[in-house]
Amino acid sequence: MPELPQDLWTAVDSYLSATLLPRDPILDAALNSSAEAGLPPIAVTPTLGKFLHLLARIINAKKILEVGTLGGYSTIWLARALPPTGRVITLEYDPKHAEIAQKNFRLAGLEKIIELRVGKALDTLPEIAAADPAPFDLIFIDADKQNNPAYFQWALKLSRPGTLILIDNVVRDGAILDAASADPAIQGTRQLLTLLGNEPRVSVTALQTVDAKGHDGFALALVL
Ligand code: SAH
Ligand code: DHB
Ligand code: MG
Repeated sequence: MPELPQDLWTAVDSYLSATLLPRDPILDAALNSSAEAGLPPIAVTPTLGKFLHLLARIINAKKILEVGTLGGYSTIWLARALPPTGRVITLEYDPKHAEIAQKNFRLAGLEKIIELRVGKALDTLPEIAAADPAPFDLIFIDADKQNNPAYFQWALKLSRPGTLILIDNVVRDGAILDAASADPAIQGTRQLLTLLGNEPRVSVTALQTVDAKGHDGFALALVL
């Protein structure tokens, strides 16, 4: 039994992934190519990726929006929950991340289902809203945390009653408790949580997680 908390969390996470999730060469390749290209190792864990996938299936999602693509690991989990006519729109600022992600989508055979938009999400979100007003069924917010309040407001605009909105990384080893934090990411997420708690158009909760990526958590909002 590992002694250090992080070693224990990582060991349990590995055990759960190995026991519950089938080996998956396509997802492994997506992580490997991301690492080789020097992308930061901050994709969702396999168990959280599968959780997103199951949520999308539970609600029979057809149309998904993701803010923050990185190498496309979470995007692939989400896209695989969709029927062939489904669509994921995923937003990424960094052209290098986008290039790796696009290659991963092609390797996964998902390039027809996933539409990758390169640019600052605050620039591409208004374009998406203008081009296609049909609401999304699930929205996953996982980009620059200082813009979390703005991303949540956009998510609400792009929703219908029944839409699920998930926001990643709302705990950050407890850093979220520091009301005086100088970190814009912490301030952005604290503002987001305040918005969520005061927003009558959603019913919301948040859960802490401990896993291979440490102590973190996600918020889940159901649009009413
Ligand atoms: N969802 C991914 C991880 C995303 S990491 C996964 O779990 O696999 C966060 C990503 O958001 C990074 O690739 C980063 O470049 C991107 N990002 C940062 N600022 C952004 C912005 N303003 N608009 C869009 N994407 C942004
Ligand atoms: C970071 C970002 C993430 O989306 C994440 O899941 C973990 C870490 C980061 O910017 O450090
Ligand atoms: Mg994240």
